Amino acid sequence: MALVSAVRRIAQVRLRDLCRRSTVAVAVSPGACVTGLRSFTAGTQSLRSDNKVTVNFINRDGEKITVKGSPGDSLLDVIVNEDLDFDGFGACEGTLACSTCHLIFDEDVFKKLEPVTDEELDMLDLAYGLTETSRLGCQICLTKSLEGMVARVPESVSDIRQSNDGTA
Ligand code: FES
Repeated sequence: MALVSAVRRIAQVRLRDLCRRSTVAVAVSPGACVTGLRSFTAGTQSLRSDNKVTVNFINRDGEKITVKGSPGDSLLDVIVNEDLDFDGFGACEGTLACSTCHLIFDEDVFKKLEPVTDEELDMLDLAYGLTETSRLGCQICLTKSLEGMVARVPESVSDIRQSNDGTA
């Protein structure tokens, strides 16, 4: 009996610690925290589907392709996950070595994107058809604020890796 009580006490202390660390659950008492954790777990399935971000790609031939991605996914991830066929896109698989993932955004979307890094800027300079609102798709991560965004695929790509080895 004493052993059962000891285990319960340890479990309550651990739960309390977990609740303190969690940004989701607010611990008023150990019981309240457990309820909060349970409802969070039960609700994650619907959260996952509600949390998707709609992305509209305009293909090279002007076709609009609407897909969904998860927050945190890069636009390259979305294109790969949805098996979109943009010829030559994402040749270096997001290692910032090719610029084939060049995308062009509307001004309002462009302003919402995370700041460009020097490494992305260096590679972006080598992209075909660079515009004021160009970015590299492998460096753009989805957030809910980008819901409904439009990304245009430039009419051509230049892969700096091929230029460097003389194959293009
Ligand atoms: S996939 Fe190569 S730079 Fe983005």
